[in-house]
Amino acid sequence: MTLAQHTTASTATTGHRDRMLGLLRRRPPRTSLEAPLYTDPDLFSLDMQGIFATQWFFATTEAEIPEPGDYVTVDIGTLSLIIVRDDDGQVNALHNVCRHRGARVMTDRRGTTARLTCAYHSWTYATDGTLLHASSPGETFDRTCFSLRTAHVRSVCGLVFVCTAAEPPTDIDDLAATVTPYLAGFDIASAKVATRIDLMEEGNWKLTMENNRECYHCGGHPELACSLFATWGLTADTVPPELAADWDRSLLADAALRERCTTHGLPWDIVEHLTDRDAGFRISREALDKAGESFSVTGERLSRKLMGDLPDFRLGRTSLHVQPNAWFHGLSDHVITFAAYPVSADRTLVRTTWLVAEDAVAGEDYDVDELTHVWRHTNSQDADFVQLAQQGVSSPAYVPGPYMRSEDQVEAFIGWYTDHMIRHLDHLDHLDPGERS
Ligand code: FES
Ligand SMILES: [Fe+2]
Repeated sequence: MTLAQHTTASTATTGHRDRMLGLLRRRPPRTSLEAPLYTDPDLFSLDMQGIFATQWFFATTEAEIPEPGDYVTVDIGTLSLIIVRDDDGQVNALHNVCRHRGARVMTDRRGTTARLTCAYHSWTYATDGTLLHASSPGETFDRTCFSLRTAHVRSVCGLVFVCTAAEPPTDIDDLAATVTPYLAGFDIASAKVATRIDLMEEGNWKLTMENNRECYHCGGHPELACSLFATWGLTADTVPPELAADWDRSLLADAALRERCTTHGLPWDIVEHLTDRDAGFRISREALDKAGESFSVTGERLSRKLMGDLPDFRLGRTSLHVQPNAWFHGLSDHVITFAAYPVSADRTLVRTTWLVAEDAVAGEDYDVDELTHVWRHTNSQDADFVQLAQQGVSSPAYVPGPYMRSEDQVEAFIGWYTDHMIRHLDHLDHLDPGERS
């Protein structure tokens, strides 16, 4: 029995499943979801099973765990994982559940340890999950049967994805093959973590993701608007007259960027597979406004050191969206990763991590406050938007509303979610009772 099926057996009653299927199947295209899909704890549990127990999701970066024994913990719903580098340099994802009587083993968000020791009765595991020590005088048992359970791990250019399903979707190979030419030059695995910030958004994880997938609301981001063209997400026929000058400037900047990328042999095409596969993604390289170097108020670099082996400070932003829970921005001088970890039906932890070049020195090459200025404010503004949305969908007066053309990627995300949940719930429908229990 897989973990997904086991979890399903404990929580997914036929009633919840049928109700959710009904809500998903009757969604008109390009329309936001009905309220229970954002607010109901039982349907949140089904999200965790149908999406986060079946798909790859972004967990962390290799830069967070450069040395053996370095680990981070990642909590999603009731799931808890330890992402740890073992003595052989391998990255492992271990379920944070003791094999004795199930206690949580590691409670800190990150750290370094030679051994993973459960605080309850001191069962002790190696960093590959092997049970090393279980004190029980006068008793013998086969320790090899009680390693921490593992999940699948896949590093794509230093971005660590995890899948807890018995048989993970295989099309992450396509994602890796496509994005590697865009990301390899940043050398994320060897980067230095400048800082990271955890922000609890008071909203359902899908509202966090929806908010990220459009810039219709970017008027609410004055700091970001300094370097991000206000026309992002628009097309020639959807640009309003008041943004015509911005549109023209962005076209010129994009043309210059493409010329520069061609000179350096770097890809810049938009590649989008958000809806037609399990590991849905979109990658692009787009120009930034003003100085065009980084996410700063002036568009100028925020770190004096180039990432990895990039050849130029003026390479715009390389942006990657990955379903279901992550987005990334690669600038020549730093990389920002964003992970959305669902906590409950109405709470989502957004972890933002700023990476700089391996040899960049704080206070000399970059200033953490300056480095994080734009996205600290932008994240805070986004958290407010998500909270407003959660408050609204929780009202009895809420009815689903239409996605605008500038919200195509919101529709892509919700379409992907809807298709995958229907497929998962349909699959449950076809399991015989013996397979469900
Ligand atoms: S539950 Fe972990 S040692 Fe007992
Ligand atoms: Fe935003």
